[in-house]
Amino acid sequence: MRELKILAVVVALTLITYWGVEPFAHSQMHPKVAPADFEFKDLADKTAAVEALTGDANNGQVLVTANCTACHSIKSQGFPQLMDNASSAAAYGVVPPDLGTAGKIYNERYLAAFIQNPAEASLTSHKFVDGKVHPMPSYNWMQPQEIADMIAYLKSIAPEEMSNKEVFADSCQRCHGIKYADMLNGTMASYTPAEDIKKYMGKNAPDLSQMIRSKGEHYLETFINNPQKHLEGTAMPRVGLNEESQQQVVTYLQEVGDSKKQEREELGPKFLIYLVVFAIFAWLWKLKQWREVH
Ligand code: HEC
Ligand code: HEC
Repeated sequence: MRELKILAVVVALTLITYWGVEPFAHSQMHPKVAPADFEFKDLADKTAAVEALTGDANNGQVLVTANCTACHSIKSQGFPQLMDNASSAAAYGVVPPDLGTAGKIYNERYLAAFIQNPAEASLTSHKFVDGKVHPMPSYNWMQPQEIADMIAYLKSIAPEEMSNKEVFADSCQRCHGIKYADMLNGTMASYTPAEDIKKYMGKNAPDLSQMIRSKGEHYLETFINNPQKHLEGTAMPRVGLNEESQQQVVTYLQEVGDSKKQEREELGPKFLIYLVVFAIFAWLWKLKQWREVH
C-alpha cells in the first residue's frame, strides 16, 4: 500500500510539472499566430467588382493569349515556354509558372487580386521600392469583366485532379528545390538557378526536403498561407493556394521528408499495449516472490 502511495505522489508531481512547463515552453517557442485564412479576406474589397461578375471563358482565352503567354507557358493548351529556365530567370528574376493549373490550385479571389496587382496580393510590396518593380505587370487597367473572363478561362482548362507532387511543382518549384525527393535524376531542383533567386529575392530559397521536420506541419500550414505572419518582412511571397492544394503541398513535404511518420505513429499504441501486458506480468511475478518471503 505504501508503495502505491509513493507511486501516486511521484506521478502527480510529474504531471503537474509537465503541464506547468510544457504549455509555457510551447507558447515561447511557437508564438501564437492567427490560423490560415483561405478566404483571403484582406483582398475582399479589391476583388468585389470582379467577384460580382460571371466570367466568359471564350473571351478569357483571347485575353490570356494576348497578355500572359509571352511570359507564362500553358503547355496543356499548346503554349510552350519560350525560353529555357536559365534565360527566363535572367529575364524575369524567376521562372514564371505554367498557368495550366492556376485555375485549380489558387484561390479565386487571390487570383483576381494577383492579376490586378501582383506585389500587393502576394504581400511583397516592401521589396519593390526605389524603382524596383514586380516582374509581372499589374493588370489593374483592365475592366473587372476582363479579369473575371481570364479567371473563367484558367478554371476551364485546369485539370480536375492533381498529384501532390504536381501541386508542389506548379506552386513552389520555381523557387524551391526538394533534392531528397529525387536525388539521382535531379528533376526536383528549383527551376530558377540559385544565383538568380538570390538576386531577385535578396535571399536564397531554402531546399524544402527536411522542412516538415525542422518546422513541423502546423508552422507550414500558417506560413504558406501568409509568410509575413511568421517572418515579418520576408522575401517569400504569399502563394495564394486554396486549402486543398496547400494541404497537398504539406502532404508532399511529409512524403519526402518524413516518409516513416505513419509507421512510427502506428507503432506507438502497439508499444504501449506491450508495456501494459508486461507490467501485469511483472506485478504478478512480484506478488509471487513476496508471498514466499512473508
Ligand atoms: C512580363 C512577364 C509576365 C507577364 C506578361 C505575366 N506574368 Fe504572371 N508571373 C510572372 C512572373 C515572373 C511570376 C512569378 C513571380 C514570383 O513568383 O515572384 C508570375 C506569377 C504568376 C502567377 C502565380 C501567382 C502566385 O502567387 O504564385 C499567376 C497566377 C500569374 N502570374 C498569372 C498571370 C496572368 C493571368 C497573366 C496575364 C494576364 C500574367 N501572369 C502575365 C511574369 C509575368
Ligand atoms: C518566388 C519565390 C518563392 C516561391 C514561389 C515560394 N517560396 Fe518559399 N521561400 C522563398 C524565399 C526567398 C525564402 C527565404 C525567406 C527568408 O529567409 O526570409 C523562402 C522560405 C521558405 C520557407 C522557410 C521558412 C522559414 O521559417 O525559414 C518555407 C517552409 C517555404 N519557403 C515554403 C514554400 C512553399 C511550400 C512554397 C509553395 C507553396 C513556397 N515556399 C514558394 C521563396 C519562394
